[in-house]
Amino acid sequence: MEKKKLYITDTILRDAHQSQAATRMRIEDMIPALEKLDKMGYWSLECWGGATFDACMRFLNEDPWERLRTLKKHMPNTKLQMLLRGQNLLGYKHYADDVVDAFVKKSIENGIDVIRIFDALNDTRNMEQAMKSCKKYGGICEAAISYTVSPVHNEEYFVKLAMKLEKMGADVICIKDMANLLLPYAAYSLVKKLKENVKVPIHLHTHNTTGTGDMTYLMAVEAGVDIVDTALSPFANGTAQPSTEALVATLDGTDRDTGLDLNKLSEVAAHFREVANKMKAEGTLDPKVLNVDTKTLIYQVPGGMLSNLISQLKQANAEDKYYDVLAEIPNVRKDFGYPPLVTPTSQIVGTQAVFNILAGERYKMITKESKGVLRGEYGQVPGTVNEEVRKKAIGNDTVITCRPADLLEPELEKYKLEAGDLAKSEEDVLSFALFPQVAAKFLALRNAPKNEDTVRTLIVEDLSI
Ligand code: CO
Repeated sequence: MEKKKLYITDTILRDAHQSQAATRMRIEDMIPALEKLDKMGYWSLECWGGATFDACMRFLNEDPWERLRTLKKHMPNTKLQMLLRGQNLLGYKHYADDVVDAFVKKSIENGIDVIRIFDALNDTRNMEQAMKSCKKYGGICEAAISYTVSPVHNEEYFVKLAMKLEKMGADVICIKDMANLLLPYAAYSLVKKLKENVKVPIHLHTHNTTGTGDMTYLMAVEAGVDIVDTALSPFANGTAQPSTEALVATLDGTDRDTGLDLNKLSEVAAHFREVANKMKAEGTLDPKVLNVDTKTLIYQVPGGMLSNLISQLKQANAEDKYYDVLAEIPNVRKDFGYPPLVTPTSQIVGTQAVFNILAGERYKMITKESKGVLRGEYGQVPGTVNEEVRKKAIGNDTVITCRPADLLEPELEKYKLEAGDLAKSEEDVLSFALFPQVAAKFLALRNAPKNEDTVRTLIVEDLSI
């Protein structure tokens, strides 16, 4: 085999702490390590997007845009990467194209180099605008396949999807396995097929929730994957990515040597170990996230979704219905045309399954979001919808078959007006567009003259939430 370096993206600044510590790592906890990270030789550092934008304003009193500029200032040599939910950006609804375009433009202007773009349903029409804008403003466009397992998702489906995304302009194709459902031999086979059918690099993202992550990476490496996502050991494994150091050591001296220096990695890991210990003491990092979750292997339901279910059932005093709900999830998913279970579809399917069991009759109660999926508001589902269920949910309403964002008028000017004086920049307007209430509160405090009283108000308000 010829020598072919494996490239590494480290997720320590985004997915690792989003998955293990509820996205609570602060910029102050990152800064001391940034220059070292910048010199490491990573392909990229994932450091923005996903839930970080919301968490910055909601919990950390940090301006997400300021965070990005700080990251760029300390890491000018490494590509900075973000995760973007296509037409949903970093929020939970579809935004009009002008907002998507402005958001992507500002992300790149403030320091982002690589944008990983995905859609929960793998409806490429929901990725189109973000991909176009990414290329227009000079970003590296990494289009992602949301990986899942179902009767309508097979290798052929994913290869076709990847070829389509390549045609749409993707510079890199990502296999985004958010629930660690991609098992080692399936990974080998899928990566091999993708390498045969697409020319752009293949980037694999998984977690170690089910304990198979390292094996999945090794098999993907054997099949010729170009880039993988790992996290420095203090925030690695469990619900986060497999550890960087373990993979680097495994490949040391082989044809797929990563070129990364284990000593330098361990030096910077020492800093994050202290951060992790501090977060454990605060309670933001629960060591439970490190447990291997074998239920996911059996039920193919993402780990995060299971903990949501348990808390929903607890609230309803119906914890004894847990296994009934678990059995109902595949039925709802089938009725809805097998959406991948990722935000927001995982919550929608999970909640509907809970309702079906608690009501004692299937679809006696149907959530607004379930109706939205059945009405096509989220885009095209991968399989066929159960028409009987659809009829029950939305009657004779018209089903949306066009690109959902085509139904939206431009809305950037509207958000500018609504944000008013709160917004001091276009970046602020975008923060407001994505999270109106959270941003309004954050911006008001940020803009207020700083004195002890405002700080005290902030602390008191935070405690009352
Ligand atoms: Co992830």
